[in-house]
Amino acid sequence: MKKILITGGAGFIGSHVVRLFVNKYPDYQIYNLDKLTYAGNLENLKDVESASNYNFVLGDIVNGDFIMELFQKEMFDGVIHLAAESHVDRSITNPMEFIMTNIVGTVNLLNAAKHIWKDNFDGKRFYHVSTDEVYGSLGETGFFYEDTAYDPHSPYSASKASSDHLVRAYHDTFGLPIIISNCSNNYGPNQFPEKLVPLFINNIRHNKALPVYGKGENVRDWLYVIDHASAIDVIYHNGKTGETFNIGGHNEWKNIDLIKVLIKVVDKKLGREPGSSEKLITYVTDRAGHDLRYAIDSGKLQKELGWEPSLQFEEGIEKTVDWYLENQEWLDNVTSGNYQKYYDDMYKDR
Ligand code: NAD
Ligand code: DAU
Repeated sequence: MKKILITGGAGFIGSHVVRLFVNKYPDYQIYNLDKLTYAGNLENLKDVESASNYNFVLGDIVNGDFIMELFQKEMFDGVIHLAAESHVDRSITNPMEFIMTNIVGTVNLLNAAKHIWKDNFDGKRFYHVSTDEVYGSLGETGFFYEDTAYDPHSPYSASKASSDHLVRAYHDTFGLPIIISNCSNNYGPNQFPEKLVPLFINNIRHNKALPVYGKGENVRDWLYVIDHASAIDVIYHNGKTGETFNIGGHNEWKNIDLIKVLIKVVDKKLGREPGSSEKLITYVTDRAGHDLRYAIDSGKLQKELGWEPSLQFEEGIEKTVDWYLENQEWLDNVTSGNYQKYYDDMYKDR
């Protein structure tokens, strides 16, 4: 019986990873460690919460003593580390949260893993989930490869880059059996509506302005979240220790084009004239330090480990819009409370 710690399992991507592991590996005990920040929501895991191989631990990775005690008590065999502050705009208004969780929190986990595994690393694995934003911004052409030099521009991406370097340093210095993946933009069910796709679906539903940063010309490479979870599964089990894998769907969209697709799909499902909500598009002040283009080459993952995304984008967007429209209670719950204040503060000067 293996014990696997998944951090950030109540968040967007983490909840899909927890669900996959709980259902696919009944012989693993899965521990979901989460602080339940604004982005963490146990509603995301209702369907697995009573599984006999699922355990929830409420806690903060920034608390080093707590993390050390937890590792000493549970003696995990593996760690899949997703807990993070993840929203670029919030990192611009409050960088320190990102430094603490993304850097200090990661080092606490590395120290605890190193301590309990005591240099006997057989069968152990520390998997750090990271982002393509560490590579910086591309021009009109080219891709990010695993050996592309790091060039982060936001406090978020700089904190993730820093954590990636520290994870590699624990491998090179102490021999810790680490593995890292850097993924492109995810979309799908359960994403907190501060990120482009769920925020815009929610605003279209409520006939609210759609705040497009700058000219809407920035390009992102979109992957369905369940395909990210399946890549994490493959890499966790079959990737070579010490390696990095890029994850992406070769699916680039200019923001404004993606937004127009979203509008059409949501309008159609709400019984409106498809495209009629384009009148809600409002160009607002650009994000500071806004990266122009991300594009991932995931050839290494495809060739070495045989992973492929399972969904075409059109199908993924249909499923995503359906999920948010069918789960209005989920959306209403997460947008009650502090959400309105966040929204007003974030968008008031744009
Ligand atoms: P998210 O913001 O939806 O979820 C983060 C989770 O971490 C939440 O459940 C939150 O409660 C938890 N958390 C935050 N601080 C914590 C702390 N101090 N201690 C314990 N738990 C804490 O994030 P996400 O979009 O699911 O991203 C998950 C990971 O994947 C992150 O590491 C992110 O950098 C990476 N990533 C995200 C994307 C994307 O498009 N969303 C793409 C590539 C990589
Ligand atoms: O590339 C991977 C990264 O993708 C992850 O590491 C991050 O955790 C995740 O948040 C995401 O970062 P982005 O900044 O690319 O995602 P976001 O949804 O915030 O924005 C997508 C694009 O849409 C970006 O160019 C900014 C733009 N945008 C975003 C918002 C929230 C708008 O034009 N208006 C908006 O209101």
